[in-house]
Amino acid sequence: MPKARLIDGKLAAEEIRGQTAAAAQRILAERGFPPGLAVIILGEHAASRAYVRTKTRMAAAAGFLSRQFDLPRETSESELLALIDKLNRTPEIDGIMVQLHLPPQVRTAAVIEAIAPEKDVDGFHAVNGGRLLAASPGQQSAGFVPCTPWGCQMLLRRELRNLAGREAVVVGRSNIVGKPMALLLLNENCTVTLAHSHTRELASVCRRADILVAAVGRPEFVRGDWVKQGAIVLDVGINRIAGEGGTSQLVGDVAFAEAVERAGAITPVPGGIGPMTVACLLANTALAACRRSSLELPAFALAPHADGPWA
Ligand SMILES: NC(=O)c1ccc[n+]([C@@H]2O[C@H](COP(=O)([O-])OP(=O)(O)OC[C@H]3O[C@@H](n4cnc5c(N)ncnc54)[C@H](OP(=O)(O)O)[C@@H]3O)[C@@H](O)[C@H]2O)c1
Repeated sequence: MPKARLIDGKLAAEEIRGQTAAAAQRILAERGFPPGLAVIILGEHAASRAYVRTKTRMAAAAGFLSRQFDLPRETSESELLALIDKLNRTPEIDGIMVQLHLPPQVRTAAVIEAIAPEKDVDGFHAVNGGRLLAASPGQQSAGFVPCTPWGCQMLLRRELRNLAGREAVVVGRSNIVGKPMALLLLNENCTVTLAHSHTRELASVCRRADILVAAVGRPEFVRGDWVKQGAIVLDVGINRIAGEGGTSQLVGDVAFAEAVERAGAITPVPGGIGPMTVACLLANTALAACRRSSLELPAFALAPHADGPWA
């Protein structure tokens, strides 16, 4: 019998997607057309294709205009930039996302910087990064927050009565997950440690954490005895490993079977952070639509648990 409470990311994401669908209806009523999301993918990578299909399907299901651009892997950087430029100038499109990772002939930084900041619903553009950096404690960013850390923040706000003063350790410092996660936790008045591959004594650093976020990209890297008793563990990792009989299996960056014995609450993989990432992409697109059309901004948040915050 697992000791930790399981954080159901699928159910939480459904709740946020419901809120985005309500926002889409209001946006349609107030400006005459729904929020529009354009998703671009290069190449045939099966897992990336599956993510993109989920994003476009969920956007359509929430009442968004949803457009998917499937480009060949050989697409040149200038061809991709030309498409982004066109979408930047398309009024019906509020949000543009390009599925990473890109083939070697395309510079990721150039692509991220080409997306108009007001349509950058992934929140990767330097303008949106800067807005997150500039947000004061307790304030929301005036820009777009990257979807995965925003989803983590929503889950934490529901689990904990108050994040202020908690020890938070984030393992991984990517621009997509780790760095913005650390900034969000800092704005929640946590005491934040951002760990990476040069961090010494990582296990004992992790053992300090009331909140432990793992975004490393290594299967079951964070062991159970790195988890403080009662900590909240958010496992961002998605790793495909070989399973039994030639099958493959998804596992996180945390050794779940071990960590579940010590954590107070933990996200599973799959069914934890992943669904929240997609829901937050839709939420950012609804926000983009409202900002671009000067409509009242919707608020997205998870309702508290019936039995109140966990700690
Ligand atoms: N659930 C979702 O929706 C979602 C979204 C995005 C990503 N992901 C998953 O999350 C994971 C991380 O993604 P990412 O894009 O942030 O990865 P990334 O860009 O590869 O960054 C990995 C980070 O982990 C650190 N790291 C690597 N080995 C380490 C070690 N031995 N000790 C401590 N730190 C170490 C790296 O440190 P250095 O900087 O020092 O190299 C780096 O900062 C991946 O599994 C990815 O698939 C999931």
